[in-house]
Amino acid sequence: MAEQGRRKVGIIGSGLIGRSFAMIFASGGYKVTLFDLEPDQVSKAKADIQTQLGSLEREGLLRGSLSVQQQFDLITGVTDLATCVKDAFFVLECVPERLDIKRSVWSQVDPLVTDDVILSSSTSALLPSAISEGLRHKDRFVICHPTNPPFYAPLVEVVPSQWTRADVVQTTMELLREVGQVPVLVKKEVAGFVLNRLQFAIMGEAWRLVRDGVISAGDLDKVMSSGLGTRYAFIGPWETAYLNAEGMDSYVERYADMIFDIQKHQESAEKMALGPTLDAIKTDMEAVAGPISDLQTRRQWRDNRLAALAKLKVEMAAADQKAGPSK
Ligand SMILES: NC(=O)c1ccc[n+]([C@@H]2O[C@H](COP(=O)([O-])OP(=O)(O)OC[C@H]3O[C@@H](n4cnc5c(N)ncnc54)[C@H](O)[C@@H]3O)[C@@H](O)[C@H]2O)c1
Repeated sequence: MAEQGRRKVGIIGSGLIGRSFAMIFASGGYKVTLFDLEPDQVSKAKADIQTQLGSLEREGLLRGSLSVQQQFDLITGVTDLATCVKDAFFVLECVPERLDIKRSVWSQVDPLVTDDVILSSSTSALLPSAISEGLRHKDRFVICHPTNPPFYAPLVEVVPSQWTRADVVQTTMELLREVGQVPVLVKKEVAGFVLNRLQFAIMGEAWRLVRDGVISAGDLDKVMSSGLGTRYAFIGPWETAYLNAEGMDSYVERYADMIFDIQKHQESAEKMALGPTLDAIKTDMEAVAGPISDLQTRRQWRDNRLAALAKLKVEMAAADQKAGPSK
């Protein structure tokens, strides 16, 4: 754990993701400066952070050894970009998902920082080479794509470009681990990185199954929430396969033909569009999650469950660690 106030992280953009990262770094004892184009947004972010830190404490999910007040005091809202990035060893940009906005921010930051800084973006889908091309510090640029909400779903995809230095990637992974996130390395630039490629592959198949009248949208969601998803909260598809046979060779010997026969029936991409398939999905979603006018109630319900699962996982990881390798 970092000593309180040891080093500084500069965060640009104080929306949903910027404020979450501010809390995450403060939990590790880092000083955080938070900047936004809209000064009002920073004040709102600070108020929201205080509320969220209180909730995390009540849920037993407050990270690190510092109190809510100590963590909150480490986060300073600032009104200019230069102050935000000055003396920061890690600068994280969390502005809207538009290449022109991100490139404009980085062209302003680039001349302000020293040669030992790490520059990072939380982009969901823009490629690191596209954002960092032309920057003097492009070899110090790496993407940290979080999962929302980052406190409950700690995965971060770390995506370097072909010119990112190996030590920048390594330090970024270590930093994320230190503050309680779960970084994975995406070794090559690919559209959608990994999480969204998997998510959209599932969504594509889910669309076709509803479109073809195989299953209702509500029941399809149950296949995930009461079937695949319960397992995937703890183990991924590869460990599932490993455990479901006597290891990988045995799994492939037993199931590869069956899997391939089914995969051959899975069509290529179809763009989702307005029409009868979407109407059927909308009807089911209104029945399951309520009307659009009251989505906040269902979002709160979802977040409570994610918080409970996150707490369970933290407790189980601590128990596993205590039990040692024989668990
Ligand atoms: N929301 C998610 O679920 C999620 C998940 C993973 C990654 N991301 C990515 O994180 C990034 C931020 O997303 P978000 O959901 O926090 O967006 P958001 O709209 O909540 O926040 C963006 C903030 O950036 C500010 N801003 C706009 N232009 C700016 C500029 N030039 N300089 C400084 N601040 C500026 C806005 O005022 C706003 O406060 C995006 O690239 C997004 O794709 C979002």
